[in-house]
Amino acid sequence: MVRTVTPLLCLLLLSFAVLARAITHQNGDDSNSTNDCDNTTSFQATCALIETAISSASTVYYPPLPNTRPITRIGHRQLGAVCVQCRTWHTSRCWYHPTHHWPYPYAICRQGGGHTSNPGFSSTSGVQISMTRFNSVTVDNATSTVAIGAGLLWDDVYKALNGTGLNVVGGRVPGVGVAGLTLGGGYSWKTNQFGLVIDNIDSYEMVLPDGRIKIVRSEDEDLWFGLRGGYNNFGIVTKFVLKAHPQGNVWGGIAIISGQYFDQINAAVVKFQQEPALVLLMFYDGPERPEGIFDDFLALPDIQIDVRSGSFFEFFGVIPPTDLTGGTRAYFSSVPVLEYSPALVDAIVNETLFWGAKLAQLDKGTTVSFAVESYDAGLFTHSPASQPSAYPPDRSRPLLPMNIYFGWTNPALDAEVANALRESSRTVRNAAVADGQDVLNAAKYPNNALFGTPLVDIYGTNVPRLKEIRRRVDPRDVMGLAGGFKF
Ligand SMILES: Cc1cc2nc3c(=O)[nH]c(=O)nc-3n(C[C@H](O)[C@H](O)[C@H](O)COP(=O)(O)OP(=O)(O)OC[C@H]3O[C@@H](n4cnc5c(N)ncnc54)[C@H](O)[C@@H]3O)c2cc1C
Ligand SMILES: *[C@@H]1O[C@H](CO)[C@@H](O)[C@H](O)[C@H]1NC(C)=O
Ligand SMILES: *[C@@H]1O[C@H](CO)[C@@H](O)[C@H](O)[C@H]1NC(C)=O
Ligand SMILES: *[C@@H]1O[C@H](CO)[C@@H](O)[C@H](O)[C@H]1NC(C)=O
Ligand SMILES: *[C@@H]1O[C@H](CO)[C@@H](O)[C@H](O)[C@H]1NC(C)=O
Ligand SMILES: *[C@@H]1O[C@H](CO)[C@@H](O)[C@H](O)[C@H]1NC(C)=O
Repeated sequence: MVRTVTPLLCLLLLSFAVLARAITHQNGDDSNSTNDCDNTTSFQATCALIETAISSASTVYYPPLPNTRPITRIGHRQLGAVCVQCRTWHTSRCWYHPTHHWPYPYAICRQGGGHTSNPGFSSTSGVQISMTRFNSVTVDNATSTVAIGAGLLWDDVYKALNGTGLNVVGGRVPGVGVAGLTLGGGYSWKTNQFGLVIDNIDSYEMVLPDGRIKIVRSEDEDLWFGLRGGYNNFGIVTKFVLKAHPQGNVWGGIAIISGQYFDQINAAVVKFQQEPALVLLMFYDGPERPEGIFDDFLALPDIQIDVRSGSFFEFFGVIPPTDLTGGTRAYFSSVPVLEYSPALVDAIVNETLFWGAKLAQLDKGTTVSFAVESYDAGLFTHSPASQPSAYPPDRSRPLLPMNIYFGWTNPALDAEVANALRESSRTVRNAAVADGQDVLNAAKYPNNALFGTPLVDIYGTNVPRLKEIRRRVDPRDVMGLAGGFKF
């Protein structure tokens, strides 16, 4: 019997990693997060004003927050504690309507979520707006869409869809929020077939900076363009309506292959008690292992493997969450490339070993990981030409996302690690350029771009239009008080 394998249904993610042998895992709640507050009283008036403006469906919380569900981890997930002065929880029936210019910095995040690694993007010493009460998943069979509350994780979405025979184009690993991933673009297991998450949106429900609730569809050209990759610049999204796709059983899972099989393994790495490894995440959108595609990897002497056939939700559950707890800190950096040539992969392996060893000299809790994401060349072709998006600024050629992750524990090293990450990103990009790839100015992926990345490096020639839309939608720059890449 001949089995036909459709490469578009496959996705392989490789991470070359050097993992600290022993990261101290403290329990996940950031119970110290209110200790860093400078001045609680200065926020009382603002919090009190919010209280007068919201309905009984919302709540304003003041520190110290009860450490019980549904109020659990309130800190910035990837950079330790934040100061939460008060929090508003809303349902789609109500909203705080800012009648005065909002006087304090604020942040929007899913309570306990916040997967961006950039400081201040979803954390603040001001008012935290938690989206947790926007938590429903509703399938509409008639329109083949799924309405998803902006306070959910992809875990919640896939769980709700398990058994329905339907799925959406969404996040790849457990723990990540629907809102941030979708507002930044969204690379999915199903991107080879259907494009980015933003290419699979039916509509957004949002609150504009002036307090009005708006449903945004493709006819609304400017907001539609801006919301697709433009992050939190145009308001707060409360609901994402995504197109539904039929979903059968899938094959996939994870394999971790010992770094002793890297060609360039060297003594320095061993000396610093680090464990180099190759982490493989494999996905096939069909019930059986596709012949040929993953065979070379599966033939390597693996140290750990968990691959299976079953529902999409089961596959998703096999992937370990990158659960940063206790004192672990982390930054990401985006380095888009055109192809993963042998020369480029060599450079990536060398960078992994080099920085794994170097950072381990400074901090025993170091983890470095270089994620090689091999998408199909057609990944940007799933949005009609009439529907450009904030990201990617140029859909005429494919860019393969690659991201570098550095984790550490000592706060005194924050600036040094950020610089190391910048340096390593340049080295990898230059290796791609030396390899003949025209990526000197390739657009970085907003969701993985390191803080401080110039807007033009992410949004390219879209920057003037995005700024113009922002000025019109938010003339008082209310959203400018929330962190992020700002137009
Ligand atoms: C372990 C891990 C796995 C990842 N996997 C993927 C992946 O498979 N594919 C991919 O594309 N990316 C992935 N990423 C990157 C991810 O998309 C970004 O980190 C993203 O910002 C996370 O979204 P969040 O809602 O969890 O983040 P948050 O930190 O809560 O928010 C990120 C930004 O979005 C804004 N925001 C949040 N909610 C709203 C809202 N309702 N309205 C307006 N603005 C809002 C915040 O203000 C903030 O600026 C991953 C990251 C990590 C750490
Ligand atoms: C909380 O603070 C105490 C005292 O400052 C400290 O000993 C402890 O390690 C902190 N816990 C966390 C999770 O940061
Ligand atoms: C805190 O803020 C209030 C109001 O702005 C101010 O009066 C007070 O002096 C501040 N306290 C400290 C310790 O800074
Ligand atoms: C939608 O269709 C699925 C199967 O086709 C069915 O199980 C489900 O009950 C339907 N939902 C609604 C709201 O009609
Ligand atoms: C997911 O759905 C499958 C049926 O498609 C079912 O067998 C399985 O128990 C469900 N898993 C969970 C965790 O609900
Ligand atoms: C490995 O990377 C380091 C740091 O970027 C660099 O100095 C060194 O020349 C590289 N070695 C090779 C063989 O590429």
